[in-house]
Amino acid sequence: MYRNLLIASAAALALGAFGTNAAEPPDYPGDYRNWTHVKSMVIHPDHPLAQPFQGIHHIYANDTARAGLASGDYADGAVFVFDQLEYNTADNASTEGERVLLGIMLKNAEQYADTGGWGFEAWQGDSRTARMVNDGGAGCYSCHEDVAERGYVFTQWRD
Ligand code: HEC
Repeated sequence: MYRNLLIASAAALALGAFGTNAAEPPDYPGDYRNWTHVKSMVIHPDHPLAQPFQGIHHIYANDTARAGLASGDYADGAVFVFDQLEYNTADNASTEGERVLLGIMLKNAEQYADTGGWGFEAWQGDSRTARMVNDGGAGCYSCHEDVAERGYVFTQWRD
């Protein structure tokens, strides 16, 4: 009994020392432009989400996320990308401008249990290293938990 207690506390110390509670944030989704383009949206300056989401954004889903959009159930490995660009308006048309940020949601129910099973990350502009999320995804999750009944995913599939 005493021996078991010792082993248990040694294990707890080791876990604490390595900080294994902090989940690793998702990696940059290098090939997302080959995934399913689900939808696009333009956010104008007076929209409530204009800070920081003003611009045009495209949403992409990998095959697992695409299956989840159909079934309503997201398996581990599902990834959505939120690709946000500036828009330029000229001659009564708006076209894509510079990239503002690239956001991502990666499903791993166990690793990201604190944020609905989704890991959140974003990269500034075209950078693949300048990460923008420094709170473990809590800020992102605070909005996405509004759609908990849809698996924390706002986007819906349009036939
Ligand atoms: C202020 C609320 C809000 C915050 C904060 C927020 N999101 Fe979202 N997010 C949305 C909305 C609304 C959509 C759906 C946009 C659409 O319909 O085109 C969305 C869509 C997404 C999507 C596409 C999948 C989906 O749910 O539709 C990803 C990926 C995403 N957000 C990542 C992030 C990341 C990463 C962060 C934090 C850096 C974040 N979001 C913070 C509101 C928010």
